[in-house]
Amino acid sequence: MSELRDRLTAAARAASAKAYAPYSHFHVGAALAFDDGSVVSAANVENASYGLSLCAETVAVASAMAQGRRGGLVAVAVAGGPPAENGEARPAKAPVTPCGRCRQVLNELAGMGGTDPLVWCIGADEVLEIRLSELLPHAFGPDNVLG
Ligand code: THU
Repeated sequence: MSELRDRLTAAARAASAKAYAPYSHFHVGAALAFDDGSVVSAANVENASYGLSLCAETVAVASAMAQGRRGGLVAVAVAGGPPAENGEARPAKAPVTPCGRCRQVLNELAGMGGTDPLVWCIGADEVLEIRLSELLPHAFGPDNVLG
């Protein structure tokens, strides 16, 4: 499992170099691991209308779903911070945890495959390892709508 953590962390950090974050200057990369061994990663994409900005996790989920993925999500890594020379986030001191909206977006993809992914939130001094269900207890999901 620590091998997967290291691989996903590296993918998240590499993705953070692609962040479009001219407003916050906070580069974030998210990497999603699937049960077939594949990894989908993405960075945050901001907008001049600030509230329309998209977090790295949301872009990664949209990218995976646009590739046709439905479920199979086993783990997630998120790394963020101000960019280094090469654009990669220098991990912020505190672990970067997915925002509330991203927790909900991740839950939709995870729920399709009935998994409860491990989420690694990378910080400079600490990596928080936590299940999505702990980040988003009592989640609102498809069952609430579709019965
Ligand atoms: N951000 C993410 O991409 N993921 C997170 O988990 C936290 C916040 C982005 C949103 C915005 O572009 C920037 O970080 C600063 O909030």
